[in-house]
Amino acid sequence: MTPLIPAAHQLNRRDTAVKILLLGSGGREHALALKLKSNPKVELYVAPGSDAIAECGVCLPFGAEDGKALTKWVSKNSPDLVVVGPEAPLVCGIADDLTRLGVPVFGHPRATSLLEGSKSFAKDFMTRHNVSCAFSITVDNIEEGASLISGWRHGYPIVLKADGLAAGKGVTLAQTEAEAIETLRDFLAGRFGDASRKVVLEEPLFGMELSLHILVDVRGESASYCMLPACQDHKRLFENDKGPNTGGMGAFGPIPSLRPEDMERLRKDLVEPTVAGMQKDGLEGRGVLFFGVMLTADGPKLLEYNVRFGDPETQVLMQLLDEDLSELLYSVATHKLKPGELKIFPGTAICVVLAAKGYPDDPQKGAVIDIKSPACSLIHAGTVKTPDGWKVNGGRVIGLATRASDLNEARSAVLSDLDQKQVCWPGMQVRRDIGLKAL
Ligand code: AMP
Ligand code: GLY
Repeated sequence: MTPLIPAAHQLNRRDTAVKILLLGSGGREHALALKLKSNPKVELYVAPGSDAIAECGVCLPFGAEDGKALTKWVSKNSPDLVVVGPEAPLVCGIADDLTRLGVPVFGHPRATSLLEGSKSFAKDFMTRHNVSCAFSITVDNIEEGASLISGWRHGYPIVLKADGLAAGKGVTLAQTEAEAIETLRDFLAGRFGDASRKVVLEEPLFGMELSLHILVDVRGESASYCMLPACQDHKRLFENDKGPNTGGMGAFGPIPSLRPEDMERLRKDLVEPTVAGMQKDGLEGRGVLFFGVMLTADGPKLLEYNVRFGDPETQVLMQLLDEDLSELLYSVATHKLKPGELKIFPGTAICVVLAAKGYPDDPQKGAVIDIKSPACSLIHAGTVKTPDGWKVNGGRVIGLATRASDLNEARSAVLSDLDQKQVCWPGMQVRRDIGLKAL
């Protein structure tokens, strides 16, 4: 299977405006919205969007989960393309519903979205199709689970994963047998509702983590994909990878230590068997697949699939991508991802997240954000516009994003904005070491 790279498609050759509906409201969607709007022909609508996103498109008064309102709006307005940001509506089948209306949708059908929506489904898929990954076993009752944990021979910490979507909180690394059994009991009793009635017990992997995104177009026998530059997220709250897990405190890409042969290995061990497996299983691909990868001493292993763009990885990827995003996503949505050159900026991009006081456990909303004139782009995630100015309205508040000739320069640009307090508020949390280890 040769990787195919898209060439220009006809979307922008028309004389009329290109009407795009984007679903979502966070930092990922603000980054996508800004990129889509860099094409002046794009007429952007966003459901539900945010005050920041409203500066680049029309925000609609309903959310990505409101299938009824969405299908009504789509039927009436016939957008040229719908782009689905978050995973939850995909797992609920929003792409199937909208495709039935005859609209091109960038976003996988429900059956494919279970690669993110069910860890046991994903692990079964990986095992059957020889996608390199950790040993695992799925349990749904405490007696069997406790006995498996007591006889565990696959190393500690034991990794416990809620089967379904748990807003990024469904993974626990248990250091002892007692902790593993206690966590299992808690999960099975419904800590994450139905999402944790089944639990995957997994062997621990050690190494460097990375995020690999591919655009993937699979329908029947035909398949094409293209790989985007690998990025690295920083999940822990504090510098030096200390503190609680978060949605991601900052990312950069590409990763300087990854050589072309390492990217080739990722393609051979993870990407190719995944795409071939989707073809074999009849899983339609019409969106992005984000591989959470651990580079272990035994080579790359897949931690998880996501069926959406990562956040804050998207903020990095949109800095790096020198393509018209509307054409690219449209070519995937219409199963016409074609060979050609995918233009990627030949340097490094970074996004450093500014988070609210109290994030991730108890983010404090309401502080007024002092914004001067930062050199970096501001990607809003949890903000609201008020007569007093922008205010904190979520956990991850704003990302400072930029690109430069190398990681050092990209980091310096962000640090300079931070040193000059170009964006700040009382209690703001930020990691100044994003990308530092990679230098
Ligand atoms: P996931 O939602 O599967 O990506 O898991 C969330 C985080 O848990 C990952 O980003 C890893 O840091 C960690 N994790 C998941 N699976 C494993 C594993 N098998 N070994 C070590 N860490 C893991
Ligand atoms: N940054 C990790 C994620 O989006 O899941």
